[in-house]
Amino acid sequence: MAHDFLSLSDAGGDALAAMINDAMDRKSLRKDWAKARPDMDAPLAGHVLAMIFEKNSTRTRVSFDMAMRQLGGSALIMESGSTQLGRGETVADTARVLSRMVDAIMIRTDDHAKIEELAHYADVPVINGLTDLSHPCQIVADLLTVVEQGFALPGLQMAWLGDGNNVANSLIEAAGLMKFTIRIGGPPGYEPDVGFIERARAAGGEVILTNDPREAVSGAQIVVTDTWVSMGQPGGEKHVAAMQPYQVNADLMALAAPAARFLHCLPAHRNEEVTDEVIDGHQSVVWDEAENRIHAQKSVLLWALEKL
Ligand code: CP
Ligand code: NVA
Repeated sequence: MAHDFLSLSDAGGDALAAMINDAMDRKSLRKDWAKARPDMDAPLAGHVLAMIFEKNSTRTRVSFDMAMRQLGGSALIMESGSTQLGRGETVADTARVLSRMVDAIMIRTDDHAKIEELAHYADVPVINGLTDLSHPCQIVADLLTVVEQGFALPGLQMAWLGDGNNVANSLIEAAGLMKFTIRIGGPPGYEPDVGFIERARAAGGEVILTNDPREAVSGAQIVVTDTWVSMGQPGGEKHVAAMQPYQVNADLMALAAPAARFLHCLPAHRNEEVTDEVIDGHQSVVWDEAENRIHAQKSVLLWALEKL
């Protein structure tokens, strides 16, 4: 039985906690190892992951590739423009064919309906490497980073500033599954997906929406932002102007808890959504967060392939 990972809820809170623990264990075991060597147990030896990219990527591409290598398997990259998918072969037929050839599929695409269709027709696990709606793999790395920094997830106070995008949606989902509070500070009209908010609240997470950036960040232990204009989104001058009050700068960070940490999935648009002073400052853990994509992706792969 393949485990699809289209959203964090596909795994649920207990499996997410297990993923974070496994990632921490594997990360600490590797500390004493030469960088190039695989994990000793090589649990995915002989397994191949196909990665379909319909949008740009640095971290997702490299972390999944390295995760597969370190787990003893391998990955192949399919830029959709150079595949038959890019020439109109259907998602369903692509799913059927790849299922006969590889052990798992990771896809980064635009419309979330496409990944649902792929998962429906594939017999192997399908992993969401970002859609316009959500970015669950990023959030496994984010939660790992938060725990690593010494914070407990239940009861955590998190602030999100800016655009209510795919990353925000998945963080809200995490708030429900792991029972923490997320305060979303953003301009009217740029709120996260209402379905994610309602499901998180129903699951026991606290989701607070405000247009006041100071209220959002006040007392927060974790402050998170992302690009104001996501890939494939229209953006424009009005959009960027509306985001300006939500820039994470030193004045805003001063309102967070004294030991607060700053997260950003990257790539950053420096001095737009975050100032150099904050992203390069002592509260920023963005490089740990980026590294943690490898460790988190290993857990996602192991869970999807029923090895966790
Ligand atoms: N954070 C993230 O998903 O980065 P990439 O777009 O580089 O994969
Ligand atoms: N919200 C961003 C995340 C990039 C990793 C985007 O979709 O472009």
